[in-house]
Amino acid sequence: MIKQQLARFHRLELLAGATPLERLDRLSGWLERDIYVKRDDLTPLAMGGNKLRKLEYLAADALAQGADTLITAGAIQSNHVRQTAAIAAKLGLGCVALLENPIGTTDPNYLGNGNRLLLDLFEAKVELVDNLDNADLQLQALAKRLHRNGKVPYLVPIGGSNALGALGYVRAGLELAQQIEDSGHAFAAVVLASGSAGTHSGLALALSAVLPNLPVIGVTVSRSDEDQRPKVQGLAERTAELLGVDLPPAFKVHLWDEYFAPRYGEPNAGTLAAVKLLARQEGLLLDPVYTGKAMAGLLDGIARQRFNDGPIIFLHTGGAPALFAYDSVF
Ligand SMILES: Cc1ncc(COP(=O)(O)O)c(C=O)c1O
Repeated sequence: MIKQQLARFHRLELLAGATPLERLDRLSGWLERDIYVKRDDLTPLAMGGNKLRKLEYLAADALAQGADTLITAGAIQSNHVRQTAAIAAKLGLGCVALLENPIGTTDPNYLGNGNRLLLDLFEAKVELVDNLDNADLQLQALAKRLHRNGKVPYLVPIGGSNALGALGYVRAGLELAQQIEDSGHAFAAVVLASGSAGTHSGLALALSAVLPNLPVIGVTVSRSDEDQRPKVQGLAERTAELLGVDLPPAFKVHLWDEYFAPRYGEPNAGTLAAVKLLARQEGLLLDPVYTGKAMAGLLDGIARQRFNDGPIIFLHTGGAPALFAYDSVF
């Protein structure tokens, strides 16, 4: 049902096949627990990451609306802004981004290296703002300004996380369910970073429909459970509505919020240990803002026996370009 409904939406087919689902052999041996990774860090545009799946739908909509400029917002080191700027370049569109400095740092690598460096290569126009506390309004004001200058802007929300963008992770959930079925394993859970929530909402919506016993656990990267829960729930409801389906009875928001301190964009000791562990055990690059925190949650969850029996899937959502902005913390 979800699959048929999804097929009604136009998608730019930049992702040709499924991203790999791989067993992490050395880490599994070390932990004495089977860990698999779904490699959405390997999506094929500008160093990869989860946003391409959302942008396949959002950029298709932008083109259908005759837009000539994508506008969006995020942190100076936003992976989302980097992938939006890259797809704009690929489609011959302009890109304007509002950027904030959420950790108030003056580190030159944070301000100019990593994802920020790539924005210049994609010729995105950047406007620094004090904060993005009212991001939707700030983006609407930017859109008006561009309109007055004769542009046709298309507003991509923070993280690409509206219902249309979340369809990308509904599609990813169906793709992962097929890989799970092909593997023959009974997995205990899927673990991922939960930020602007489109990844979490879309994935949990699809998986609850086809694998109702598989928990999808979002490790928050910026908010408490109390603040994140309505975001994930609300976006899943709006995504189901857009698809014309009911939220599956098995849909449930699982959140672990013990791993994001001290705040968004600032890693803690557990984050750094997780990034180093995966680098040393597997040659796999996580990042200090999202996947390092999510992996810290997975590792602690194993230590504290928070999972049911069975192998665990980690959704790798990308982010490694930010490592070059955070060299001072390692
Ligand atoms: C590397 C990485 N992982 C996870 C996320 C979180 O995804 P979402 O914003 O859909 O919750 C992001 C969002 O920017 C990201 O860049």
